[in-house]
Amino acid sequence: MTRLLGIETSCDETSAAVISGTGDAVTLQSLVILSQDVHRVFGGVVPEIASRAHLTSIQPVVQRALDDAGVDGAALDAVAVTNGPGLVGALLVGVSFGKALAYALDVPLVGVHHMEGHLFATSLESADAVPPFTALLVSGGHTLLIDVEAWGRYRLLGRTRDDAAGEAFDKVAKLLGLPYPGGPHVERLAATAEAGAPRFTRPMLRRNQRPGDDDYYDFSFSGLKTAVLNAVHAPDGAAGRAAIARGFQDALIETLVEKTARAANAFDRRRVVLGGGVAGNRTLVAAMTERLAPHGVSVYAPGARLATDNAAMIARAGLFHIERGERAGLDLNAFATLTLPGLIAA
Ligand code: KG4
Ligand code: ZN
Repeated sequence: MTRLLGIETSCDETSAAVISGTGDAVTLQSLVILSQDVHRVFGGVVPEIASRAHLTSIQPVVQRALDDAGVDGAALDAVAVTNGPGLVGALLVGVSFGKALAYALDVPLVGVHHMEGHLFATSLESADAVPPFTALLVSGGHTLLIDVEAWGRYRLLGRTRDDAAGEAFDKVAKLLGLPYPGGPHVERLAATAEAGAPRFTRPMLRRNQRPGDDDYYDFSFSGLKTAVLNAVHAPDGAAGRAAIARGFQDALIETLVEKTARAANAFDRRRVVLGGGVAGNRTLVAAMTERLAPHGVSVYAPGARLATDNAAMIARAGLFHIERGERAGLDLNAFATLTLPGLIAA
């Protein structure tokens, strides 16, 4: 049994968590997520402000995670910290704190790739969300379709060529005059649409695409955003805001669902696991389930706290690496871009 502290500061949440366990039998003992509300004023994350906010909250957030778990530092066996990808100044706060803590406690330290953390998140609450599975990670910064053959063995099948899915939601929200972050607002507005929502072209989704085509699994959302812009500014103002939100969300979701279904089918997977902030979209989860259930594929989505950026998923991914004997040195660095570990040929 290993008890591990996770730390996550890659973007605008300061988070710490304690887990304990072995292999996939893991108990989440505590999870603290402090979301930096300040960025709402600016309509997006301001990196320098994020770094400073992490600096003032990291110590109390870690202390609170230990208190909630009912342990003190001496009870920890290891420390895991996100060291990329993300905002480098923000990451450095967590990495520096993690290093100092591991050194002071004389326990192993491990660096975790933020997106590998998202792959593990759902398994903390759904015991069946374990490999092999097809993963769709959809957040504000990333859109990745991955075949997870085993923990640590990942086939990167598709990614966005421009905007991430969450970024598209945020930009469309702005066009519709909704607050940041826009995803939940767009979802709510779309739910109020009457019949007759505009049908936007499904980006990179064509019937005659074949496995091996370089756009078979890839995504692109910037054209869809432009189509929304044009609809908002249409001279007759034909479609209302709710209808436009609905048309946008339908197009984006159908693209995500179809490409995920292609991947699950190609690798004959029985499970699909969602991750990232957009996985909090109930309409997406319902559409994915409806599309895949008839094929005997189960869909797993994380609850709100594990969908968004959190340290529990970092601790869980860190446990996997610690159990494999991996250790980071005190020269562990933070990286704005970082290759997912464990990639195997698609
Ligand atoms: O994973 P996350 O919390 O942060 C990172 O980007 O890493 O994802 C945040 C993104 C934002 O773009 C937000 O608008 C989107 O997730 N989001 C949603 C929903 N809830 C959050 N998008 C669509 N529908 C939602 N219900
Ligand atoms: Zn994330």
